[in-house]
Amino acid sequence: MQNNDSVHVEVRQSLHGNWSSRLAFIMAVTGSAVGLGNIWKFPYMAGQNGGGAFVLVYLLFVFLIGMPVMMSEILIGRRGRRNPVATMKLLGEEEGNSQQWKWIGVMGVTAGILILSYYSVIAGWTLTYIPKAFLGQFVGTNAVSISNLFDEFVSNPVAVILAHTIFMGINYFIIASGVKGLERAVKFLMPALLMLLFVLLFYSLTSGSFMQGVLFMFTPDFDALNWDGVLTAMGLACFTLSIGMGAIMAYGAYLPQETSITNATVSVVIADTGIAMLAGLVIFPLVFANDLNPGEGPDLVFKTLPLVFGQMQAGTFLSTIFFVLLSFAALTSALGLMEPAVAWMVESTKFNRKQSAAIIASMIWFFGLGTALSFNTLSDFIFLKGTIYENVDFLTSNVMLPLGAVFTTIFAAWIMSKNSTSEELDGHGLVYKIWRFLAKFFAPIAILIIFLQAIGWI
Ligand code: TRP
Repeated sequence: MQNNDSVHVEVRQSLHGNWSSRLAFIMAVTGSAVGLGNIWKFPYMAGQNGGGAFVLVYLLFVFLIGMPVMMSEILIGRRGRRNPVATMKLLGEEEGNSQQWKWIGVMGVTAGILILSYYSVIAGWTLTYIPKAFLGQFVGTNAVSISNLFDEFVSNPVAVILAHTIFMGINYFIIASGVKGLERAVKFLMPALLMLLFVLLFYSLTSGSFMQGVLFMFTPDFDALNWDGVLTAMGLACFTLSIGMGAIMAYGAYLPQETSITNATVSVVIADTGIAMLAGLVIFPLVFANDLNPGEGPDLVFKTLPLVFGQMQAGTFLSTIFFVLLSFAALTSALGLMEPAVAWMVESTKFNRKQSAAIIASMIWFFGLGTALSFNTLSDFIFLKGTIYENVDFLTSNVMLPLGAVFTTIFAAWIMSKNSTSEELDGHGLVYKIWRFLAKFFAPIAILIIFLQAIGWI
């Protein structure tokens, strides 16, 4: 195809060069996708929402909504080759419509800041568990003492805020100094994390309650799931895949023209979902073997995994490594959450990168105090959806990300020309037709219906 359009686009290059290979792109996107969402959030939310039905709905959303949205984000990003706000503005004009599409980018930047405000607090918990693991504090414990260990820590606002501050400090430092190469580290860290999860799975298999855990995760009991739960599953699908806020769009800007967007998306989705399922298969058998409550909440992971480590040979060593790896996974995600805001500020104000990073990081740190205190001093401060943390999480995961996803697919499937999208997705074959159907009709309508159901309008 050699119409004017394609000539024009091939000439367009990102200012920052391209990914060296398809694998580098997949690693970077997987690094952003795999994080606390898979190992901390998925299990606790599946547990709170009754297991099986929630997991099934989550998986459906990952494949029927998550994949087409991710493909849309990558193709828009590669077409525009700029930061998400500028790309949406440019393509909005170019595809014959208006500049107002840039607001999707703006919403994404805002969502990133708000998500990171609580993400950093939880990542702080993970950091704190590194010295705890290293000092052998899980050895010889039982469910009660492990639970106390966590409660004691989290009820201390100073300790939680300190950990949050350290994590944001590391983030600031990396973003401000523009350290590259973290993607390269992902290549080793991710497989290592995966291997440790398999070690844990082995222990879970021998816990005596493996089947009970599996049944909890995969027997759909639809009475246990209301529309709020369905909305949460949808928000979680967006969250774990990092979609709906333009982050993947930003990565797409550096994707070489000849790389298949579909194949890259499939790899990322499988890696991301696989790790979430694995985390669930490790955690739920432990929950039942130790008479814990699957609906425990955000502390679930911190009250289950240390139990196995405590019983393992070399548990001190392995648990230290595990929490280091989990902190790294959180860090690569956190950088992806913060970078859009910083990049945008550098490009649209007179502040340089260091100043922008300092301003944004301080803002995020400050918002994070609300979440940090949600688990202690302000735990009784309940409004709308619950604590401050629960409100920020609801607003971002259940409202902003799905809204971002809807507008992204509407833009890709309704506003962009068929010429442009088919060129990015390699022609008019079956995959293209399925993508177009899901992006044009299924995803926007499904998300809209779930929204309306959850707020009780239908
Ligand atoms: N996917 C990340 C996780 O599962 C969290 C996340 C959501 C994210 N949106 C993002 C990370 C955007 C980077 C960029 O932990």
